Amino acid sequence: MPRHIQEGTPVQIATTLEMLKTGIAELRARGGRIAFVPTMGALHAGHMALVAHAQTIADHVVVSIFVNPKQFGPNEDLARYPRQETADADLLAAKGCALLWLPPVSQIYPDGFATTVSVARLGDGLCGAARPVHFDGVTTIVAKLFAQVRPDCAVFGEKDWQQLAIVRRMAFDLDTGVTVIGAPTVRDPDGLALSSRNAFLTPVQRAQACALPQALVAARDAIEGGAPVADTLAQAERSILEGGYASIDYVALVDADSLVPLATLTGNGRILAAARIGTTRLIDNFAVPAKK
Ligand code: PAF
Repeated sequence: MPRHIQEGTPVQIATTLEMLKTGIAELRARGGRIAFVPTMGALHAGHMALVAHAQTIADHVVVSIFVNPKQFGPNEDLARYPRQETADADLLAAKGCALLWLPPVSQIYPDGFATTVSVARLGDGLCGAARPVHFDGVTTIVAKLFAQVRPDCAVFGEKDWQQLAIVRRMAFDLDTGVTVIGAPTVRDPDGLALSSRNAFLTPVQRAQACALPQALVAARDAIEGGAPVADTLAQAERSILEGGYASIDYVALVDADSLVPLATLTGNGRILAAARIGTTRLIDNFAVPAKK
């Protein structure tokens, strides 16, 4: 663990830009690298793994909690998104996080805010097809948070593979100077990826939800074994629906970097899916490495 991180020390909480600037200046004065973990709160073991990853690559970890209205469409779950800032701050303190940026909306989107950061192409398909405003909302808030926090690096979960690819492109294109790092997805023992949205599942839905990772793992194994891609993806869709999901937005095999759909496994692939169980939309993905 880098030298400045001490678990169990109280986390500083900044709720205004002035407080954030002071907190960041204090960390910079102590020397070392700052890693940033942006979140929307309702922290679970998946987020804490991002913080732990950040602690291995930097001397100070700054976390933000901001439920970003711009990345939710009109019929999405902004109003019911889980909020538990006090419990989140306690978790971050116990983990040795240096600074929590907990801004009100006015510190992010002041009156008259009129800027959108948009990455072309990478956001058109997959989740972008079903959620047209989502990725512009993500890149706008992440660009804004990078400008406010000015970290050396930032850690994002691989669970949202498309978001990671888009943010990486944005950070590079805009010369932010921030190195974007992906951290592996954390899963429950039955394979379900940890997500704040899992809290919406009834016990029956929770038991059924593992049909999504199970179908993707079976499809990954089949494709690696040489099975035809289109048939395998169709079989994965059937398995997800038979497992109790109400509908599927997509099951796709894409190039891991460009996100271009692959009809056959050429180069490094990624199999991704989004599906609804009840009214809760879950996403997941797995690597499908190139054949040796
Ligand atoms: O992945 C998330 O939690 C959000 O999309 C992020 C990156 C914090 C931006 O609001």
